[in-house]
Amino acid sequence: MSVISVSNSKGGAGKTTLAMILADQLVENGLSVAVIDADPNGIITKWAAKRAEAGREMPYSVTSQPKEAAMIETIAQLANENDMVIIDLEGTASRMMSRALIRSHLVLVPFNQSPVDAELAAAAVSLIQEEEEAVERKIPFRLVRSRDSAAFATKTSKRITSAIEQAGLPMLPIGVVERAAYRDIYEFGLRLSELDPSQTSGVPKAIENAQGLAQAVVDSLKEDHRR
Ligand SMILES: Nc1ncnc2c1ncn2[C@@H]1O[C@H](COP(=O)(O)OP(=O)(O)O)[C@@H](O)[C@H]1O
Ligand SMILES: [Mg+2]
Repeated sequence: MSVISVSNSKGGAGKTTLAMILADQLVENGLSVAVIDADPNGIITKWAAKRAEAGREMPYSVTSQPKEAAMIETIAQLANENDMVIIDLEGTASRMMSRALIRSHLVLVPFNQSPVDAELAAAAVSLIQEEEEAVERKIPFRLVRSRDSAAFATKTSKRITSAIEQAGLPMLPIGVVERAAYRDIYEFGLRLSELDPSQTSGVPKAIENAQGLAQAVVDSLKEDHRR
C-alpha cells in the first residue's frame, strides 16, 4: 500500500487529470485503488456521480472532501485496505495539503510548461521540503510535465526541462501528453478504456501515455524505497 499525493498550489496545473488517469491505469494493471478527492471543486466526485447516474460500476473508490481533522485517519484506513491511495489536492496550500504530504510515499507535482508555472512548481517543491523538515524524513517527490506536446518538445519546454535538471530536482521521465481523451473521460464519466475512438481522437495514444505514466510512478516508488 502506497500513498501518492498530487500537489501543486497552482490551479490548472493538471493535478486532477494526472490523479484520474493514474488511478484508472493502476486499476487496469490489477491493483486496488482508492482516491481521496480533497479538491473543493470535487471534480473526481462529479465524475463518480456521472458514472453512478449511468449505472456504471466504479473502478476505484472515491472518498469525497474528507474533513481536515479526519484526513490522517482516512489515509491510514484506505492505505490499509488498498494497494494504492491517490490524493487529489486542492489548489491552495493548506493544513489538509500538509497532512496529505506527510503521509505520502510519493508526491507528484504536475506543472504546465511555461516559465511562470515552472517557478510555481518550485514553490510547490518548497512546501514539500518544509514538511520534510517538520517530520524529519524525506518525502520523495517528482515533478511531472503537464500537457506535453504529442509531437515534439518545444524550445520553452526544453529550456524548462534543462533548468529543472540543473537545479537537481527529480522529474518523471514521461509527461502527461495533451490529449482530448483526458478531457473526455471527465465529460462523459468514462474510463480511458471505455471511450469510443470514433468520438474521441487519439484514444490508443492516450492509453499508451497512461501506461507509461503508471509504470514511471511504480518505478519511482521502488527507487525511493531502496534509498
Ligand atoms: N494532458 C491534458 N490533456 C488535455 N487536457 C488537459 C490536460 N491536462 C489538463 N487538461 C485540462 O486542463 C484543465 C485543468 O486541468 P486539471 O487537471 O483540472 O488541473 P488542476 O487539478 O491542477 O486544477 C482541465 O480542463 C483539464 O481537462
Ligand atoms: Mg484539480
